[in-house]
Formats: sequence, structure tokens, C-alpha cells
Amino acid sequence: MSLNGSDVMSPILDEHSLECPSHSPEQTRRLGVRLGELLRAGDLICLEGTLGAGKTCLAQGIGRGCGVTETLVSPTFTLIREYERPQNGLALYHVDLYRIAGVQEALGMGFEDYLSEPTAIALIEWPERVKALLPQERLWIQMRYIDGNKRILLFSAQGARYETLLREFRKRAFGV
Ligand SMILES: Nc1ncnc2c1ncn2[C@@H]1O[C@H](COP(=O)(O)OP(=O)(O)OP(=O)(O)O)[C@@H](O)[C@H]1O
Ligand SMILES: [Mg+2]
Repeated sequence: MSLNGSDVMSPILDEHSLECPSHSPEQTRRLGVRLGELLRAGDLICLEGTLGAGKTCLAQGIGRGCGVTETLVSPTFTLIREYERPQNGLALYHVDLYRIAGVQEALGMGFEDYLSEPTAIALIEWPERVKALLPQERLWIQMRYIDGNKRILLFSAQGARYETLLREFRKRAFGV
């Protein structure tokens, strides 16, 4: 099954988006590693999807790809975890907004400081809770539970930086 209604293998939907299946947690982590290897300080990656869709699994791959040596764990009870990327001393923020009721509560915890930190990469689970606070330019990844171990990942780039990032990722992960 495919979100674009075909079984064609090409992951490309249009110049701003691509869609691909994952058949296992390992495959999702591998996709995350490919993406993580391309990230730079200042990048914002939003991970949308229902409970258990695989957002944290993808985030673990992204963390590994961008040089975090610890394994990312779900930040659900802490909201934000900060990881060091030892090769350059910069940080990765892993944010989980599941327990946040909305924009006011996010502002109350200083959420916007994590978005405006130019030396860090920010990964946000449940970003739709604070959509109004997010910069327009970002990579948005929607994960859909299909069944068992199957998921569909839909990547959408907004802004020039993220269009470039998505093209690089496409080449790296799919060779096209
Ligand atoms: N293809 C797949 N990709 C990702 N995870 C998968 C896949 N198949 C099965 N899983 C399983 O689904 C679960 C995904 O859990 P994960 O914590 O990553 O979800 P989540 O979207 O972060 O959920 P939450 O909203 O609770 O934080 C894991 O138990 C993982 O092993
Ligand atoms: Mg999670």
C-alpha cells in the first residue's frame, strides 16, 4: 500500500517530498542514520505520527548518524533530552511534546529556546502540538502505522535548506 496510491518503487512524490516504506525497526533506524549523517547545526526535524508509529526509532538512527554515541531514549517524561555530538562538541535536542497541552504550556517551559539555538540540531516528536511556534522552514516526517512491522514514512521539505537536504537524503538512501 502506498500513500500515493501506487505500488511503484520510486520514493519521489514531487520536488519537496518523498515517501518510502519501512518493513522493520532496523530499516527505520538505517533511514535515520542516512538522514542524520547529512544534518548540520541549526536543522529542525519534526517527527509526526501516532503512538508507536516509530518516531523514537527513527530519532535513534538520526542520533547515531549525526554522531551521538549514546542511544537516544524516549524523552516522554522529561520532554527534552540533550545529547552531545562528540566529534564537534555540538548538541542534539530530542524533544517529545506528547504531554504538552498546547502552545502556552510549551512557551512556559522555554520550548522556543530550543528552536532558536543555531549550534544544535533539534528533533521534535509530536510537533503538531505546537505548530504555531515552529519556524516555517523545516523537514517534516510523517510516520504511518500500516500493520505489524510495516510503516510508511512521508518526508516533506519546507525551505531551500530542507529541499537540498531531502535531495541529498534521497541520493544517499535510494540512489536516485
Ligand atoms: N518498521 C518499523 N519502524 C519503526 N518501529 C517499528 C517498525 N516495526 C515495528 N516497530 C516497533 O514499533 C515501536 C515503535 O516505537 P517508538 O517508540 O519508536 O514509537 P513512537 O512513534 O516514538 O511512539 P510514542 O508516540 O509513544 O513516542 C517499537 O516497538 C518498534 O520496535
Ligand atoms: Mg517516541
